[in-house]
Amino acid sequence: MAVTRTPLIAGNWKLNLDHLQAIAFVQKLAWSLGDAKHDFAAAEVAVFPPFTDLRSVQTLVSSDKLPIAFGAQDLSEHDSGAYTGEISGAFLAKLECSYVIIGHSERRTLHNETDEVVGAKVQAALRHNLVPIICVGETADDLEKHGPSAVPVAQLRAALAGVTGAADVVVAYEPVWAIGSGQAATPEQAEQVAAALRTVLVETLGEDVAAKTRILYGGSVKAANIAGFMREPNVDGALVGGASLDLDEFASIVRFPQHVGL
Ligand code: PGA
Repeated sequence: MAVTRTPLIAGNWKLNLDHLQAIAFVQKLAWSLGDAKHDFAAAEVAVFPPFTDLRSVQTLVSSDKLPIAFGAQDLSEHDSGAYTGEISGAFLAKLECSYVIIGHSERRTLHNETDEVVGAKVQAALRHNLVPIICVGETADDLEKHGPSAVPVAQLRAALAGVTGAADVVVAYEPVWAIGSGQAATPEQAEQVAAALRTVLVETLGEDVAAKTRILYGGSVKAANIAGFMREPNVDGALVGGASLDLDEFASIVRFPQHVGL
């Protein structure tokens, strides 16, 4: 029997929106999706605000019982100790975060996060029952030198080294050349790499877990191109950057089942 994976549309706000703006945004997003009668069982919605917004978002979501998940954009590989400026997975779990983004290309490039650090952060997330959204993706240079799948596959293998069995993870395939460039991959390109990543999941976590694990595409996703990605069998959602800050655009991406005719 084919396993059905609930699509996930995740909004990565990056360094945007303070806690007051976050409250207004999440409230409006919930109203807008509610008005449009969005079926949250057909597409799960999650937002990833900056750390300083998380407590406000948690309070709003829990007091108004909003069907919107949230998570952090990063976490420390350590749980506590002398690590100035770091945020522990324990703190995120206490704030009822469901997810945490790990290994985003901006962290890898601007903060020198190696595959080893990414792997340690994945373990830290799992220790605290946070679902890591493990980001992988090749640069334009990698694409030219190694083809489309080699780098993302190697990054995922490294991120999952030491993870066993029934781990609940999400993978985000984000070609670095597509992030913030306005030039998304084609649905066929995304599917080709997503299928290769699913094979890594089978090898590392086993068939059953691999069949249940969601693989997102990210990189210049918009309302106008989401449908093409969602038609691909191995693409189970999107990690959205720029377009997640525009309420109407993001709500329209979340409501992709209406434009895919699913
Ligand atoms: P973008 O960013 O949608 O603005 O390309 C995606 C991401 O960085 O997660």
